[in-house]
Amino acid sequence: MDAPEDDGWSALAPGWAAAWGSFADPVRRVLLDATRTGPGTRLLDVGCGSGELLALAAERGADARGADAAPGMVALAAARAPAADVRVADAAHLPWPDASVDVVTAVATLHLVEDLDAALAEAVRVLVPGGLLAVAGWAEAALNDLDVVGAAVALADDDEPPPDGPLAREGGLEAVLTAAGLAVEASGVVGVPWSAADDAALVRGALLGEDPGTLARTGPVVVAAAVRFRTPDGGYLLRNAFRWAVARRP
Ligand SMILES: C[S@@+](CC[C@H](N)C(=O)[O-])C[C@H]1O[C@@H](n2cnc3c(N)ncnc32)[C@H](O)[C@@H]1O
Repeated sequence: MDAPEDDGWSALAPGWAAAWGSFADPVRRVLLDATRTGPGTRLLDVGCGSGELLALAAERGADARGADAAPGMVALAAARAPAADVRVADAAHLPWPDASVDVVTAVATLHLVEDLDAALAEAVRVLVPGGLLAVAGWAEAALNDLDVVGAAVALADDDEPPPDGPLAREGGLEAVLTAAGLAVEASGVVGVPWSAADDAALVRGALLGEDPGTLARTGPVVVAAAVRFRTPDGGYLLRNAFRWAVARRP
């Protein structure tokens, strides 16, 4: 099988881990609670990134596995969660047997996969009957301060801000899980605030992966747009939200 599409994530991995790695912890905890992940739970995190969910699952005594298309992310995840079995793999071709895990999670990943139906079918394949698929991702722009910054950057580039994707809208996650043959058991919205210590950290995080020329040109746009999110200590606090849902394989 061909190597999965890295899509630039390996190059971004250290910067991602530093700026964004732990910001989704509130929703990760919600998913781990909703799936009752605990000692011995066989859990697979798809699109595991730098391994923060794997580390939280391992803290609870779970038997954790992770898959990510980007080798650079897999290396960080393996270091963060040393007991986990972390592999380079595409969400649509998971290298684990049928019915081999109790819980599959995917955080901020499903909106990126090329073939969502194939990724969901693969998650269902590796789940035991009665197993749980727990997913989460960005909610609609209206709930995210980060989108205020993104809209200002788009405007400065004479672009339109991107429209909300189908998974970001109310009912979007539930619809795709139901279409994949699963029974949705719970869903909701969780706050995932993101903070930056100063202007430099704000620009680094908001423009992660951009070249030096773009950083120099667009950095001031980011700082100006984020002025309303400044904190008294000179940092920034952006309030954002993720939608989540948990569904059971029949
Ligand atoms: C936005 S990051 C989120 C990482 C992690 N889940 C988190 O919450 O921090 C998206 C991750 O999904 C991975 N990814 C994107 N498409 C993928 C695919 N088709 N199969 C596996 N991983 C994928 C990327 O390499 C990246 O690590």
